[in-house]
Amino acid sequence: MAKAIRPIAAKRMESLPPYLFARISQARDRMRKEGVDVIDLGIGDPDLPTPSFIVQAMKRAVEDPAHHHYPTYEGMPALREAVARWYQKRFQVDLDPEREVLVLIGSKEGLAHLPIALVNPGDVTLVPSPGYPVYGVSTLMAGGEPYFMPLLKENRFLPRLNDIPAPVAEKAKIMFLNYPNNPTAATADAPFFEGVVEFASRWNTVVCHDAAYSEIAFDGYRPMSFLQADGGKDVGIEIHSLSKTCNMTGWRVGFAVGNRDVIDGLRRVKSNIDSGVFQAIQIAAIEALENYETHHSDTLGIYQRRRDLLAEGLREAGLEVQSCAATFYLWITVPKGFTSVEFATLLLSKTGIVLTPGNGFGEWGEGYIRAAFTRDENQIREAVRRLRQTTF
Ligand code: MLT
Repeated sequence: MAKAIRPIAAKRMESLPPYLFARISQARDRMRKEGVDVIDLGIGDPDLPTPSFIVQAMKRAVEDPAHHHYPTYEGMPALREAVARWYQKRFQVDLDPEREVLVLIGSKEGLAHLPIALVNPGDVTLVPSPGYPVYGVSTLMAGGEPYFMPLLKENRFLPRLNDIPAPVAEKAKIMFLNYPNNPTAATADAPFFEGVVEFASRWNTVVCHDAAYSEIAFDGYRPMSFLQADGGKDVGIEIHSLSKTCNMTGWRVGFAVGNRDVIDGLRRVKSNIDSGVFQAIQIAAIEALENYETHHSDTLGIYQRRRDLLAEGLREAGLEVQSCAATFYLWITVPKGFTSVEFATLLLSKTGIVLTPGNGFGEWGEGYIRAAFTRDENQIREAVRRLRQTTF
């Protein structure tokens, strides 16, 4: 019998942590096995089903053998055109569907591959902290070095661009941004984005704005696109996903839009790595983009009620909660005497509630925990009841 091999991991694996939400799901599953009635407010995975008109479109498309082949690498022209129409209608931004739109296997995939197109070993990317873990990890995988921009409460969780040292800015190939923001729920306005455009063109830095939460907003607030800022398309791209907008996390479909050279680089990387999105999913995505608005206000109403219930309950339990005009996250200050992990662990063991420790999103998330209101009102009421009975 042949001797089993002992694979020797590549050096780069040393900088690759286990994925934050994979770790949290493991802890949740362990508790469930022990019989605990766990309420999972950890990952931002909508509990609401994908609207049935999207599912029906997929069902029809999957029956059509024309969709059973390799898809085109950049996405079906019909979907790229639908994206361009949506951008015009929603943000009044013109996009060339041929050269300024690229279909992704979800936004995470585009974010993970972008540094391969732009970053050389020794280059820097500017990464918000706290922030979606993929920005930093994808930089490391490309041999680059993330420079973390603190998002602090006193700065409305926006990075202070003037604080970025010139030697760092000189080496910065990409600036990752994400508004409405995961995990802090902060929002950005036109003057901030204009400052970003100025910074990017001064230092020749590509802006990658992750706009996954642009459609999850409350109280009449409509988040803007980075591409609406004067010069936005000259310096960057925006990445969208249907995951949160249309409850389609499992479907894996998103898109990148904006600067054609950046889109072209990402397209070249992707065409060498993946073979695109199953066309039946792309057909469903067209249906989603064209018709989601008819159902969307109901979805937002559901989230808004949950947000109010949870925020009020958390405050009654004595916790400080940041305001939330968008996203389905509440950013909560950890009480004195605990680290983020200690407090999340205490809550899990005392109440069975899963929350995400803020430091999982980076050093500057320490001192916070995140709650996702992607569970129904009954579960949120129960979570609030358990929290009120807990002393910490
Ligand atoms: C989150 O919960 O922050 C993310 O949406 C999870 C993910 O995309 O992996």
